[in-house]
Amino acid sequence: MNPFIKDHFFIGKVKIPGRALLAPMAGITDMPFRLIAKKNGAALVVTEMVSAVALVKNNSRTFDLLSFDVCEHPISVQIFGAEPFIMAEAAKIVEDRGFDIIDINMGCPIKKVIKQGAGAALLKEIEKAKEIIAKVKKAVKIPLTVKIRSGWDKSSRNFLEIGYMAEQEGVDAVILHPRLKRDGFSGKARWEDISELKSRLSIPVIGNGDIKKGDDAKRMIETTNCDAVMIGRGSLGNPWIFKEVNAAITKERIPNPPSREQKGIILLKHLYLAVKFKGELRGVREMRKHMGWYSKGLAAGSNFRKLAHQVNTFLQAKALIIDFFHLKDEDSLGWAFE
Ligand SMILES: Cc1cc2nc3c(=O)[nH]c(=O)nc-3n(C[C@H](O)[C@H](O)[C@H](O)COP(=O)(O)O)c2cc1C
Repeated sequence: MNPFIKDHFFIGKVKIPGRALLAPMAGITDMPFRLIAKKNGAALVVTEMVSAVALVKNNSRTFDLLSFDVCEHPISVQIFGAEPFIMAEAAKIVEDRGFDIIDINMGCPIKKVIKQGAGAALLKEIEKAKEIIAKVKKAVKIPLTVKIRSGWDKSSRNFLEIGYMAEQEGVDAVILHPRLKRDGFSGKARWEDISELKSRLSIPVIGNGDIKKGDDAKRMIETTNCDAVMIGRGSLGNPWIFKEVNAAITKERIPNPPSREQKGIILLKHLYLAVKFKGELRGVREMRKHMGWYSKGLAAGSNFRKLAHQVNTFLQAKALIIDFFHLKDEDSLGWAFE
């Protein structure tokens, strides 16, 4: 155990029992995926971004995004919006639902969100961002975080200003994905921005961007001094990355990657949770993409992915997984469905 790496940290009063966190991903980080991430060592999980306007308008589909399991604590919910009063009202709604932390999205680059003046658009509107933070902070008791990018474009790389403003307004941690809005996902994340932000703030700084394996997380923590890492794409079809990261940053022996069969068992569990929580047709259809990700890099994967994109029932999906991942003894899989 590396004495310099603590095994927990705090966001406000909430204890986060590790340093590997799951990033919010729209259409992906639903309850089944979060439960799988948690079981594999994620110390904090976050919902996908949830529209504050839709919550305040009582949109039932949006409320579905707020379902979570007690095993997920501590759990954060990410909200997005542009109107301070509506964001404050949405914050009260999610606090009443029992979430432990609220995160404000200030980094989403997609048009639909930017057009409303939300997400990364707030990086250009620091006064508006400040008002949103102040109103949300006043409305709720649970800790508040903001997830930002480094800035809108090269001429407005203002993460230090935004981070400082957030800290002054009482935000409890800042998550930085160090790309510009302009960059989308291209190029390499500029981890040096994380170092710089960390050196200027007293609240925890969570680094995010391009962590694909345990060693990347260790390097990010060692080179930037960030308090924790947040992992998005690196966890797709690869939720055991959290175990690898935990081992790498505590200098324990990094576990062997799971065998093909072990991957299949985790995927079956994921499938089961998806069907249980979403119903068969929706659950199975939403699992098609995950089946693709879990099969990445495995022999005969492309044929499996072709077939996975046609499954509609639990039994079809299960049979395909058992066959592809060489899960020979179906009876021994009972535990996967506990
Ligand atoms: C499919 C997808 C959906 C995402 N949805 C969200 C979101 O809802 N809220 C958010 O703050 N970031 C979202 N992100 C950004 C990630 O949280 C993260 O900042 C980004 O992917 C960089 O981290 P990574 O390199 O570990 O993936 C999304 C990213 C992807 C790939």
